[in-house]
Amino acid sequence: MRKPLIAGNWKMNTTVEEAINLARAILNGLDEKEPVETVLCPPFVSLYAVKELLKSSSIELGAQNMYFEDKGAYTGEISPAMITGLCDYVILGHSERRQYFGETDEIINKKIQKALESNLNPIVCVGENLKQNEADQTQEVITKQIKAGLSGIAATSQLVVAYEPIWAIGTGKAATGEQANATIGLIRRTLTGLWSDKIAEQVRILYGGSVTGSNITEFVSELDIDGALVGGASLKAADFLSIIQQTARQKSTQ
Ligand code: PGA
Repeated sequence: MRKPLIAGNWKMNTTVEEAINLARAILNGLDEKEPVETVLCPPFVSLYAVKELLKSSSIELGAQNMYFEDKGAYTGEISPAMITGLCDYVILGHSERRQYFGETDEIINKKIQKALESNLNPIVCVGENLKQNEADQTQEVITKQIKAGLSGIAATSQLVVAYEPIWAIGTGKAATGEQANATIGLIRRTLTGLWSDKIAEQVRILYGGSVTGSNITEFVSELDIDGALVGGASLKAADFLSIIQQTARQKSTQ
């Protein structure tokens, strides 16, 4: 019932020219009949050029962040209106934004609200760090991030959640499918509590953190995991395409 989703978070990588080349390689290699929604999230400066390239394809675009104000004196920031029309999705609350740019649950909450008002589908990232994981605080941390991030937000299946344990991001040390599925199950139950069972069943929840072509099957074979938010491996067209193909194959057997 939930359409699998694979999103590539290119982070602060690729010049405009490199972004065009990478998007072209993905476009050329993708079987658009695959029943997987594919989203590329290049840096802001490449969104327009990549959008032009993907105009008549089913591949969608996402931004990696945005500010919650409409416009004005916020030097260096990007407003929702600047990306609506280019993007269908926006990644919000990525752990790197929380860690290096001081984003709090309150800021992320405002951004989620604004994204939804602006017709952008937020991909909201949550995840515990290594210390919290080792202290058995994962459930508590994730529940708090979800509740605070979604505080006051009306139930919507437009939301996508990405569970990204911080210790697994860029480390080559992914969670196991079983671990990820357990936490994702908790996220779904938290959404049921906040909203309703019906909406919680419709929201797509992704796993992220060192996903590659070699481990994607372990995640998407779990019923509660609807796809992946891929960092490093999304910068290599062949790897990213393999992740999409394996997701399509796995989900069509469920
Ligand atoms: P990674 O990053 O796949 O390189 O671990 C995932 C992410 O941060 O979204």
